[in-house]
Amino acid sequence: MSRWIMVSNRLPFKLLPNGQFAPSSGGLVTAIGGIRSKAKVERIWIGGAPEGLTEEAWRKRRPTSGKSAWQHVPIFINEDLYDSYYNGFCNDVLWPLLHYQNDLIKFSDQVWNAYIQVNDHFAREIASMAKADDLIWVHDYHLFLLPQLLKRLRPDLRIGFFLHVPFPSSEVFRQLPSREAILESLLTADLVGFHDYSYLHHFCSSLSRILGLESTLLSVRHRGHITRLGVFPVSIDTQAIQARARSAEVDELSYRYRKPCFFFLGVDRLDYIKGLDLKLLAFKTLLARYPEVHGKCSLLQLAIPTRTGTPEFSRLHQEFSRMVGEINGLFSTPSWTPIHYMHTSVNGDELLSLYRAADALLVTSKRDGMNLVALEYIAAQTSEHPGVVVLSEFTGALSILSHTLPINPWNTDDTADKMKLAMEMPKQEKSYRLASMTRYLERYTATDWAQTFLDDLAKTPLAAVGVPHIFQPTRPAVDALAAEIAKKAHHVSLILDYDGTLVPIEESPELAVLPPATREILRDFTRFPWLDVLIISGREKRFLQAQFEGVPVALGAEHGAIYFDPQKKKWTQRVQRARSGWYPVAVKILTDYTLRVPRSQIEKKHFALSWHYRQSPSEYADYMAKKIAEELQVGLANLPVTIIRGKKVVEVRAAEADKGLLATWYLEHQVPGSFPLAFGDDRTDEDMFLALKNRGYSFRIGVTDTGADHVLESQASVLPFLSALLASLNQRMRSNRSREAQQRTLTSEIAAP
Ligand code: UDP
Ligand code: G6P
Repeated sequence: MSRWIMVSNRLPFKLLPNGQFAPSSGGLVTAIGGIRSKAKVERIWIGGAPEGLTEEAWRKRRPTSGKSAWQHVPIFINEDLYDSYYNGFCNDVLWPLLHYQNDLIKFSDQVWNAYIQVNDHFAREIASMAKADDLIWVHDYHLFLLPQLLKRLRPDLRIGFFLHVPFPSSEVFRQLPSREAILESLLTADLVGFHDYSYLHHFCSSLSRILGLESTLLSVRHRGHITRLGVFPVSIDTQAIQARARSAEVDELSYRYRKPCFFFLGVDRLDYIKGLDLKLLAFKTLLARYPEVHGKCSLLQLAIPTRTGTPEFSRLHQEFSRMVGEINGLFSTPSWTPIHYMHTSVNGDELLSLYRAADALLVTSKRDGMNLVALEYIAAQTSEHPGVVVLSEFTGALSILSHTLPINPWNTDDTADKMKLAMEMPKQEKSYRLASMTRYLERYTATDWAQTFLDDLAKTPLAAVGVPHIFQPTRPAVDALAAEIAKKAHHVSLILDYDGTLVPIEESPELAVLPPATREILRDFTRFPWLDVLIISGREKRFLQAQFEGVPVALGAEHGAIYFDPQKKKWTQRVQRARSGWYPVAVKILTDYTLRVPRSQIEKKHFALSWHYRQSPSEYADYMAKKIAEELQVGLANLPVTIIRGKKVVEVRAAEADKGLLATWYLEHQVPGSFPLAFGDDRTDEDMFLALKNRGYSFRIGVTDTGADHVLESQASVLPFLSALLASLNQRMRSNRSREAQQRTLTSEIAAP
């Protein structure tokens, strides 16, 4: 059975100054720690060694969690390097960026390099210990580069990545100087998961804006690799929390923690994303607006110390102490203190007792990947004393918790009103609200979260599906191909698409003229007696004629609707039903969109219309292209047309104008018995590849799904490859011919009396 290997920056324990181990804080540790395995599977948790722990000390003593289902493996990293990676890049660049706090980002090459080095260190450690069928699950933003660095060393491993925090809007993510490297790395993982659909959606729009990649939200293909995408909201170990929350110890402690007035509880790491400032302001507003609640409610805020090595975090304690002091100073009476502020962490039983004692939980995060505290609070409630959850809209938890009191924490007036509502809520309503959320948490636990993620990961195919082998045009490979062709054929037809194959794609279609050097190379090709050349393009005849003037090649314009015979020097129309009916309707639809999408344009041909948007704002125009295609499908339903979306183009053409049809006709009627070598880079070329299947060889330019026999990595490699292939082929064809000539002479000599 596959082992589960979890990899995260943090392990579930820290080292105290007295040399003892204590549990570490944070949602990631809770989530992974809450997983129970349904089957007997070996579970390994690899993470950064806690501060102060040396390799020697680890060898001598480990945390006394002998029963722990996890085998912990700390990774030891040089202290200064770790500081630049963790405080410098993770906490001072990624954390604010991913939580929309752009002004706090402090990027430098030095911290970025440290981040690369630490990720690389993790990769090497894991590569040396992982077995081929292990499932590797990488957690969180500290290890964004790990999938790529590890796949380089161990392409045989299945790697999943899960982000525990929000993935921000592409508008924010694109501010990160190292944005491409991070996305590229994530696209080498086999599965990438998020808590919430909105994070997945933002990720996909970053892929589109930054790398120009289209994704289906279910998967994305890049450099021949498919990465599956998914939404897997994390959960908690509900049954364990419920059981412990009802234990005698917690029961007793929770009674001690109860207050004579309505008890609002806040439990947050002392982090600027948690919106403690907004919480205190909202509480102040409640007290200022509704004097009748004075003495009848209080707030206990637990601020768990975190990331104290970063000034942005360490200054928060002072700021909030001052705010608490001010509010208490304004409203306290000799018998009532409105706010209790505790800058400390608590143990598990104390936390559960607080959850049980509190009448309401107050979560005012400005951004929060999930917020497990809200889930835990719900699981800890009892029917005798049900509580209310006031929950920020900007948490992932809001999507899965159906019956909270949602708030926009920036609207402090409304938050104050919701707090008042919580205070006045009848017990019956509280119980009703809790019931459905509890049911959800009972059915979907941290174990289910992990199991669904790992099941999906186990199902991912390791090899890219549907992508043929990328042909590397090395000398031996080219010679081997030439030898194979020479064995099969006496005559070869080179069938070439124009844009993106023979010439690079240009910003605007009229700029894509045939370079003189390419024209000369083509002319050289036409001198081989055993070769003929056919260019098939979506372009119209006048354009093609101008480009190939004086080069004796056959031309198929408008996807083969019109054919030029180089011997007769004559164009013939091959499509009978030209543009009856559909043409004006399509012109009208495309014209409307041309007005709406800046720098888009219509190319009007005899048998086709193309709507080009290479220079238009990319995401907007891609979206409009989908709409156009849909509108054309509806507007031209039942008419003899084909509608296709190509590379930055939507085309409508007469159904008979098909590159596959022309290529077949050409081979049957113009050069019977010739062996085709077809090259193309776009959707319309697939018709040709399909028609020529098993007849010759086809090459698709650019790594993608294709029916072609081979893939060439880029347009730039087409001509050098062709030159080398045809030169090698020429030698073989010549020796074939001379062998045949000798054979003929010999036969006639023998036959002669
Ligand atoms: N927690 C903790 N120590 C404490 C109080 C709370 O470790 O003193 C735990 C809490 O039980 C929860 C986690 O810290 O599981 C916080 O997770 P959450 O998702 O709410 O926020 P994060 O800290 O991950 O941003
Ligand atoms: C969040 C992050 C976790 C992190 C936790 C505590 O939950 O998503 O990856 O472990 O905060 O932060 P720390 O920096 O102490 O690990």
